[in-house]
Amino acid sequence: MTDKNHELTALLNRPLRIGKKTIRNRLILAPMARLGNIAFRELLAGFGGYGLLFSEMAGSRSVVSGNKQKSGFIWRDEELPFLVCQLFGDDPATMAAAAQKVEDAGFFAVDLNFGCSVKAVCRHNCGAALLRQPALAAQIVSRVRGLISIPLFVKFRTGWEDNPQYAVRLARIFAEAGADALTFHPRTAPDRRTRPPKWEYIGRVKEAVNIPVFGNGNVFDAADCEKMMRMSGCDGVAIARLALCKPWIFAQWTEGFRPDAEIYASCPLKLLDLLEKHFGADTALRRFYRFAAYYAANFRFGHTFFSRIHQCKDCDSLRIAIKDFCSNAPETAERPNISLLR
Ligand SMILES: Cc1cc2nc3c(=O)[nH]c(=O)nc-3n(C[C@H](O)[C@H](O)[C@H](O)COP(=O)(O)O)c2cc1C
Repeated sequence: MTDKNHELTALLNRPLRIGKKTIRNRLILAPMARLGNIAFRELLAGFGGYGLLFSEMAGSRSVVSGNKQKSGFIWRDEELPFLVCQLFGDDPATMAAAAQKVEDAGFFAVDLNFGCSVKAVCRHNCGAALLRQPALAAQIVSRVRGLISIPLFVKFRTGWEDNPQYAVRLARIFAEAGADALTFHPRTAPDRRTRPPKWEYIGRVKEAVNIPVFGNGNVFDAADCEKMMRMSGCDGVAIARLALCKPWIFAQWTEGFRPDAEIYASCPLKLLDLLEKHFGADTALRRFYRFAAYYAANFRFGHTFFSRIHQCKDCDSLRIAIKDFCSNAPETAERPNISLLR
């Protein structure tokens, strides 16, 4: 490990109080619809090193009605001490009832999704649509707060316009309504990760509230992570896409884990096994496709890997394609190839 990496490890490995609980380090997996599923989390758990794992977002109505398959509200009991369930919805009572189910199931915390800007979510007045209605968003936070005692996170973006003062106002509203921690992604809702996030806004949000703030957005290597923390003073960092590319990154940065070249084959093969175990072969194949671009981003010529994967029609041919590609010792990139990360 270089001295620089030691510095990052020391920055991350400080326990942090969140509500009535404490996390062991400050590097957390951000929520990702469909990708932050039970199989991917089991893969991550094998490497370890994270402070918390956030689930794929679960619809509050489906959670309340007990539709586990539809909501993605499924877990392994071993992961519960580190697992946060992200909920989306726009009805305060339903969100609170869903949060109660999350607490009863034994999760570490609940996270409210006020950041997702995909049309399918915003059309139903959920996710980032709520950033236009701070009063309703605050009502959701306080109803949930009133019903649960486990920590309550809120994840949000700058708003619908590029105005840091609006983000600061939102942060204060969420904190006053009872949030225990914030994850802030400093992009506007219409920006689908095209422009760089404005990390300087994270510092403004951090200064405005007395609860922990996790910065998020475009952390692709150790230098990015350290820069985000030092520049903004944020309490921790949430990573999404880099974790898909390198699921061992938490162990690497917080525990000094050193990946060898073989990991680029063993990791996707293990993921495929886990997807098959949890979802069956057909769904595993479809779900694996979603991960392919992120693995491909690890290679200098990742486009070849990506198109190879998409030609496979079953799990066994996928396994052969992965082994084949990796047997030629493909050149890896220290920093993922961002053009492949959507
Ligand atoms: C495939 C994918 C799915 C995502 N799904 C969610 C989601 O369900 N809820 C949420 O709050 N953010 C979601 N996000 C946003 C991420 O949590 C994160 O804010 C964003 O990717 C920026 O972080 P990164 O640069 O580390 O990837 C998703 C991102 C990706 C790439």
